[in-house]
Order: sequence, then structure tokens, then C-alpha cells
Amino acid sequence: MPRRWPRATRLSPRTAPRGVALRTLFLLIGLVIGLVFLNGCPESQPTPEASPAPILDGKPAIQIRTTVTGPIQPIPLEIELDQDRVQLGGQLFHEKGLSSDGSISCASCHNLELAGTDRKRVSSGVGGAAGSVNSPTVFNSGFNFKQFWDGRAETLEEQVDGPLLAEKEMNSDWETAIAFLSTNPEYVSSFNSIYPDGITRANVRDAIAEFERSLYTPNSRFDQYLRGDESSITEQELAGFELFQGLGCVSCHQGANVGGNMFETFGVMDDYFADRGDVVEADMGRFNVTGREIDRHVFKVPSLRNVALTPPYFHDGTVRRLPDAVRIMAKYNLGRTLSDEQVDLIVAFLGSLTGEYQGQMLP
Ligand code: HEC
Ligand code: HEC
Repeated sequence: MPRRWPRATRLSPRTAPRGVALRTLFLLIGLVIGLVFLNGCPESQPTPEASPAPILDGKPAIQIRTTVTGPIQPIPLEIELDQDRVQLGGQLFHEKGLSSDGSISCASCHNLELAGTDRKRVSSGVGGAAGSVNSPTVFNSGFNFKQFWDGRAETLEEQVDGPLLAEKEMNSDWETAIAFLSTNPEYVSSFNSIYPDGITRANVRDAIAEFERSLYTPNSRFDQYLRGDESSITEQELAGFELFQGLGCVSCHQGANVGGNMFETFGVMDDYFADRGDVVEADMGRFNVTGREIDRHVFKVPSLRNVALTPPYFHDGTVRRLPDAVRIMAKYNLGRTLSDEQVDLIVAFLGSLTGEYQGQMLP
């Protein structure tokens, strides 16, 4: 497998034993110092004030229990949620007052009528500021193991801070957002009736996240097939699914979300970024989060649920048509050149992943 990043410098065999001995020595010294430190000065533990607590009030991704075996599981038909929080979260999701100039809500870039996206190459925020990556759909985001292309948010709750504070998105801050909500008697009473402590950052995050968990799209024709109704997909779609498995797409795009449960390199077999050109910071993917060489060009494998409705494709939003996205994936991540017929079959299968929101097929 060709890897583009420089390999980590290794100790040459001749110097290795000395290097190992030295490392062991340092490790021992470190341990002793650590023990003395721990026993001798317990008061030096960081206090909550000294290091602000990370946002850990979030819930992990929705766990799926299913009797269907295989690489892809159907989305549950029902997910138990607190409807009051869902409703409040839905209002907040559509609230333009949360942005610095009152012009942008979450829904501006995640339009539920447009399958939870804005169908732009990259999103534009307050004052038309262009972002650096394509806006992923919010539908089914509750099933993703991490949030954002580079997975920098652990949970939906933690994710909320991203757009709210981003200069090129809503360009606001928590003080302003809370102050805005507190002037609205309707919000004050909704928050107070749900949360004992009323309008707080944690409660805003909680309500929005609960609403996002309600944005699941079950009952796609492919899910009906998985549940045993063989007539729900066409022969062509079935052949596409078989190809999707046979080629190995399913090794990365799998689980209930047909993605969203692992990080992988974009360009495992060939250098997508060299071929595309104009490499920017966002192309570094998870490297921007961890700083580790092996994470260069690594992204969260995106969900392929409703993918027929969420162009343009990839984090850079450069690909407008699904067949082209499929071809690129086959070339750069599997080292395969697909025939037009193969591409058509896979695209047909992907079309069968379009699901329902509140009992209606996504438009
Ligand atoms: C200006 C456009 C814009 C606005 C406003 C916006 N988003 Fe996003 N959203 C994006 C973009 C672009 C990304 C991808 C960013 C990245 O991965 O670095 C994203 C990512 C996400 C994700 C992660 C999805 C995934 O699969 O990783 C969620 C969830 C989300 N947004 C929810 C929200 C919520 C909630 C709000 C309102 C508080 C919001 N967004 C406001 C553009 C926007
Ligand atoms: C080695 C893992 C891996 C394999 C194999 C793989 N993908 Fe992907 N796929 C990814 C990653 C990672 C991305 C995100 C790339 C990016 O935008 O940076 C992606 C993105 C996509 C997208 C774009 C989704 C969107 O919303 O923008 C489609 C469509 C897709 N893959 C289809 C396929 C198909 C079809 C195959 C098989 C021919 C396949 N993938 C094989 C990892 C993989």
C-alpha cells in the first residue's frame, strides 16, 4: 500500500540497543519522579478553575440493537426521545437570532428540505463568509461515532460550539447567545419547564442535540430489504449492493449509517490531493486534530444514507455528481477502475438508501 507521508525515523539496528536502554532509564526516572510527585503534593492536582472542564455532558452516538446480521444494519423505526427537548431543540436549530447579525441559523446550512445540507460546495456564514469544507447532512448524525469531517467533536452536544463560535459561520459567543435567548419570554418558559437551571450553555447544547437525534431516516427501501422484504429493491440495486460488498466499499462504509463509525485515509491507493491540486489546511483532515503524521488526509468515513440527495460530495465539495464520486472512491481508495455499468449499479444501490423523515420520503 503506497503511503505518502514520511515514515517515522527509526533507530538503526546498530544504535537500537543503546536507544532502548536509554529509553528504559528515562522511563524509570520518570516513574520515580511521578510517584514522588503524586504522593508528595496532592494539592497540585489541577483545579476545575485552572483548566476549564472539557465539554463532556454529551451522549455517545445512538446505539443500535438489531437482529439483522451483516455489514449494514437498518436504522431503527423508532428512537425514544424526549419530545419536549426535541421541540425546543428544533426551534433553536432554526433560530437566526443565535448568529451575530441575526441572519444565519443552523438550518441555513443544514436545510431539512435539502436533505440536511445546503447543496453548496462550501457553506457561507454571516456576511457571506465562505467556509473551507462542504456541509455534511445533519440527518442521522446521531449515529456517527464522532462529529465533523475530522472528528474533532466527540458528541453532538460538543459539536454545537463549533458553528456558534465560528467566525465564518454564526460568528457569535455564548454570552451573546444566552443573553439573546433570555430576552425571549417563550424561550425562558420553555427552558424553565424542561430544565431546573433554565437557559444555560449545557441546556442549549442538550436541546439541539436531542433534536438532531430525532433527524433519523428509517425505512429506506434497502432497510426494508434488510428486514426481509426482498421485493423492496430492484435486481439492479441488489447487484449494486453485491458490488459494493465485493469491491470492498463496505469495509469503510458500514454499520447502521453506512459510514460514520471509523476514520480512514482519503487516498489509500493513490494521491487524490496531488491530482486535485491546491491543497489547503482542511485537506489535512484529522492531522489538524492530532498532529500525527499517520492522520494526514484522514477523515471520518461519511455516512452514505440519503447520499443521492446530498451533492456536492467529499469534504471539499468538488464533485457534483454521485457517479463521479463513486468512480473517485474506487480509484483512490480501492485502486480500481470501474466500468460505466458497475458505476450505474452502485449508484442504483446508493439510491435505495434514501429514507423517511417523520414518515415521508426525504424530498
Ligand atoms: C455557515 C454554515 C453552517 C452553519 C450555520 C451550521 N453548520 Fe453545521 N456544519 C457546517 C459545515 C461546513 C460542517 C462541516 C465542518 C467540518 O467538518 O469541519 C458542519 C458540520 C455539522 C455537523 C457534523 C455532521 C457530521 O456528519 O460530522 C453537525 C451535527 C452540525 N454541523 C450541526 C449544526 C448545528 C446544530 C448548527 C447550529 C448551532 C450548525 N451545524 C450550523 C456548516 C454549518
Ligand atoms: C478505505 C476506506 C474507504 C473505502 C474502501 C471507500 N470509501 Fe468512500 N469514503 C471514504 C472516506 C474517508 C470518505 C470521505 C472523503 C472526503 O471527503 O474527504 C468517503 C467518501 C465517499 C463518498 C462521498 C460522500 C459524501 O457525502 O461526500 C461516497 C459517495 C463514497 N465514499 C462511496 C464509496 C464507494 C461507492 C466505495 C466503493 C467503490 C467507497 N466509497 C469506498 C472511505 C472509503
